[in-house]
Amino acid sequence: MFSESSECLSEALRLHMTDSLTEHGWSQQNIFLPADLTLELAAECRALALGGALHRAAVGRGEAQAVRSDIRGDRILWLKAGQSPACDRYLLIMETLRLMLNRTLFLGLDEYESHFACYAPGASYQPHLDRFRDDDSRTVSVVIYLNQDWLPEQGGALRLHPAGQPSADITPLGSRLVLFLSADMLHEVLPATRDRISLAGWFRQRPA
Ligand code: OGA
Ligand code: MN
Repeated sequence: MFSESSECLSEALRLHMTDSLTEHGWSQQNIFLPADLTLELAAECRALALGGALHRAAVGRGEAQAVRSDIRGDRILWLKAGQSPACDRYLLIMETLRLMLNRTLFLGLDEYESHFACYAPGASYQPHLDRFRDDDSRTVSVVIYLNQDWLPEQGGALRLHPAGQPSADITPLGSRLVLFLSADMLHEVLPATRDRISLAGWFRQRPA
């Protein structure tokens, strides 16, 4: 277990990831999750979707929370520790990543929350920031894609809009990890021609 989670985070990757996150506000790692784990998580996400376990994601928080499919069209399910062996393997890898980010960037991240997400064909997520107006605990956003054989012409890119830099489109190809700073990075999800599945997550700082 431990060796698997440290393998995902070799020294070279560590340096690349943290440099890019500090310099550009985002970072990408193409083969982050082991292939077998990506397949298991994809199967679990598809089974949950077929079983009706995913629900329409809302925007906002507390009383301002609302389902607005024009703004955000994904269906989600929050992960719980112990929900499946694959989810636990994934959460252990993310725990290793949390400790690495803390050691390298001194971010004081102390929690991770994550959900499966499925965007049906045509669904999108309009440009937004991941940090809530009244809660600044979300610090580093994470997306890991679970789609086999994704072609760029199938759409569904994550489009990042780093301040003062050209926008960047990232194809949601299985095993790929994207990290960005939750407070600063404007981003959106473009519509696709097929189901688009992922795990989205946030490393949070303890509220001050
Ligand atoms: C989100 C989000 C990006 C993606 O869930 O907040 O921006 O590529 N997801 O799925
Ligand atoms: Mn987002």
